[in-house]
Amino acid sequence: MTHSTVAELLTQETKHIEVEAKGWVRTFRANRFIALNDGSTINNIQCVVDFENTDEALLKRITTGAAVHIKGTLVESQGKGQSVEVQVTSIEILGDADPDEVSKTILQPKRHTLEKLREQAHLRTRTNTFSAIMRLRSSLSFAIHQYFNQNGFYYMHTPIITGSDAEGAGEMFRVTSLDAKNPPLNEEGNVDYSQDFFGKETNLTVSGQLEAETYAMSLGKVYTFGPTFRAENSNTSRHLSEFWMIEPEVAFMDLAGNMDLAEDFMKYVLSYVLENNPDDLAFLEQRLIQEDKSKPQAERSTMTLTEKLRFVIDNNFKRVSYTEAIEILRNSKPNKKKKFKYLINEWGADLQSEHERFLVEKHFKCPVILFDYPANIKAFYMRLNEDGKTVRAMDILFPGIGEIVGGSQREERLEVLKEKMAALDIPEEELWWYLDLRKYGTAVHSGFGLGFERLVMFATGMSNIRDVIPYPRTPQNAEF
Ligand code: 4AD
Ligand code: MG
Repeated sequence: MTHSTVAELLTQETKHIEVEAKGWVRTFRANRFIALNDGSTINNIQCVVDFENTDEALLKRITTGAAVHIKGTLVESQGKGQSVEVQVTSIEILGDADPDEVSKTILQPKRHTLEKLREQAHLRTRTNTFSAIMRLRSSLSFAIHQYFNQNGFYYMHTPIITGSDAEGAGEMFRVTSLDAKNPPLNEEGNVDYSQDFFGKETNLTVSGQLEAETYAMSLGKVYTFGPTFRAENSNTSRHLSEFWMIEPEVAFMDLAGNMDLAEDFMKYVLSYVLENNPDDLAFLEQRLIQEDKSKPQAERSTMTLTEKLRFVIDNNFKRVSYTEAIEILRNSKPNKKKKFKYLINEWGADLQSEHERFLVEKHFKCPVILFDYPANIKAFYMRLNEDGKTVRAMDILFPGIGEIVGGSQREERLEVLKEKMAALDIPEEELWWYLDLRKYGTAVHSGFGLGFERLVMFATGMSNIRDVIPYPRTPQNAEF
């Protein structure tokens, strides 16, 4: 390329050189100052136009949103707020942006609500907030691959179309090529999926775990990082119907090892962005401070965004058994004063996000790893403990997010697994290959799943999951 990125120009040591830049006009002030951005950094480069010697018609076309090609001299800036600027010698309009049309969009430089930005998700990365979020998302994703690569894990691709329900929760999107209006029926009058594309019922995966287990039991340490789909009708700020999940799986590792891995991994990726994305984090931190000002005192954050990240990196995650957590919740103020929507009365209750957030934000005030949950509120594949009623599950809870990681030591004993599947009506024929792992050299193994968007929420301080993925899919919404 003949031109430089804005990021390169802003860090260029040698001055008084001829440079070229291409980008989009953020603002054009006093017929003279272009704030140019090309997405390479949150910062704009100021390009100073010699308006007295520039054609009037050309000046008119330098408008917010237009794509331009600038040639000029890089010099120390006279003005405040930037160290360098470009003295423009020639400007070419690559793509016009009609101001009347622009004024109807979020490109118009003024405050827009997050809801409004979501409606124009194809344009929202032209704003500072969303370009910062998406650069952080990219950086986190790179850090994840780097962590596993440096620690001897193999990256494997698990199938997106599957014939099994990895979580056994029945929240799947069906994949079919049958005619919806006139599907073939079997003798009982039900849809005959043996005539479907794959000759059986298939769906989009809810998790790559079961296939990852098969690879862990041969390659040792593996992980998947791919899209997962859940037809779960929960319209919350923390649920998506399509989200990305990171799932490591390791042979010969027990639950304690799994907790160590998850903690080390989370700390690594958050440290990575603290080190590599300071400008984007600083911008989002200021954004949160502004947002907080409009909230009542009690709801304001006591820590800044970087303090929150540092806090997670510098402190040990508190490890607490489900049984201990239930005792804490049962005796807690909001439970006694009936402030929880779901009151905790007895052992065995499933924890709601209000309980998770109480434990993390009010009680322990640090990330918490809850483990050894009741068997009947967790998935079929988790290893049964000696007490016969709890399983070797772990959930990691984060401040402001609640559950961010879910994992377990897997049931490696064939007979115990078969009994569990029978009790839950999971047909052995469907998972014959999964059972095979327990026949040929079974071994202790464990893994977990990290919801990528929940991690991005934490790292950016955004409070709605729809704002950390380019094109969110949620119930009743699949625009773009
Ligand atoms: O707890 P979950 O359902 O666990 C599993 O899927 C296991 N198979 C993972 C494993 O052990 N390999 O999901 C894991 C994580 C959750 O902790 C949460 O962060 C995220 O995935 N998650 C969602 N994120 C966004 N939208 C949803 N609907 C999510 N459901 C789960
Ligand atoms: Mg879970």
